[in-house]
Amino acid sequence: SNIRVIRHLISIKDLADDELRSLVRRAAYFKRIFKANDQEEFLENHMKLLGRTVGLLFSKRSTRTRISSEGAAAFFGAHPMFLGKDDIQLGVNESLYDSVHVISSMVSCIFARVNNHSDIRELAINSSVPIINSLCDRFHPLQAICDMLTIKENFNCTQNKIKIAWVGDANNVINDMAIAALKLGMDVAVATPESIEMDEEIVAIAKETSARTGATVLFTHCPKEAVKDANVVVTDTFVSMGEEYMYQAKLKQFSGFAVDAELCKHAAPDFKFMHCLPRHKEEVTDEIFYGENSIVFQQAENRLYAAIAAIDVFVNRKGNFAFE
Ligand code: CP
Ligand code: NVA
Repeated sequence: SNIRVIRHLISIKDLADDELRSLVRRAAYFKRIFKANDQEEFLENHMKLLGRTVGLLFSKRSTRTRISSEGAAAFFGAHPMFLGKDDIQLGVNESLYDSVHVISSMVSCIFARVNNHSDIRELAINSSVPIINSLCDRFHPLQAICDMLTIKENFNCTQNKIKIAWVGDANNVINDMAIAALKLGMDVAVATPESIEMDEEIVAIAKETSARTGATVLFTHCPKEAVKDANVVVTDTFVSMGEEYMYQAKLKQFSGFAVDAELCKHAAPDFKFMHCLPRHKEEVTDEIFYGENSIVFQQAENRLYAAIAAIDVFVNRKGNFAFE
């Protein structure tokens, strides 16, 4: 029979520590190839999915994820098809179940940006090709792979213990970032406002990962405590896509949570500031966002290499993480 187990990229939590390490290393490898612009290497990669297609099933807006996944498909010679929520029958005339059966019969993989995590699960269960979670309400694995690459580019992680401080919402981005960092042995401190708690499953996985790798994890409601001696300070919007109706209420809950120069005085002197983008004025001052410690645009560019690595590992290599 031709039944095989398909590896999907749904959350960093589904990856073994070494699999995550492989993906990040793979992203760094493709960044070198991309930048070197060696024609032979480009052509070799370009042949891998030449004449095939990649579906981008997006029910929410996107700049980085769309551009990086379309770019990644093009890198391997595949034609990317953007399937926005107003472009196809899904949701209006056709169920998710029927749509994924049809789409996956024709494409090499599906990048899917949805609202509910349960939709990602339903896609993965019913797809005949890999599903790459391109953001749902619980996870954002491509962002976490990119962020780990960006941290590795800025710090000597083998010689130094890196501490990451998140000051912000308990959301999709930190869920995968915290697990990713802990898997790679980095310390993680998360500060969320009083009434906003991290998801219990994420806390449990974080603690279990911390016990295994020796990296420490702290969940607090005090931004200063989280940022103390941190090498990386990171935040994200206070109001995620789909939560727009909560804007006023959330803004109040997040008073005192903006990342500014005063807060960053508690970080390590050579700290770096990160943000997955898009950025809003509320969560970080211009001084920090555009300041000398900020690596946000390097981070954004690295989304391309994370997407290339994801297609390479999950599609070209059919979930085989062992290289050279
Ligand atoms: N960071 C990120 O996912 O950005 P987009 O929403 O623009 O894709
Ligand atoms: N937490 C944000 C991330 C955007 C890339 C959101 O879900 O809208």
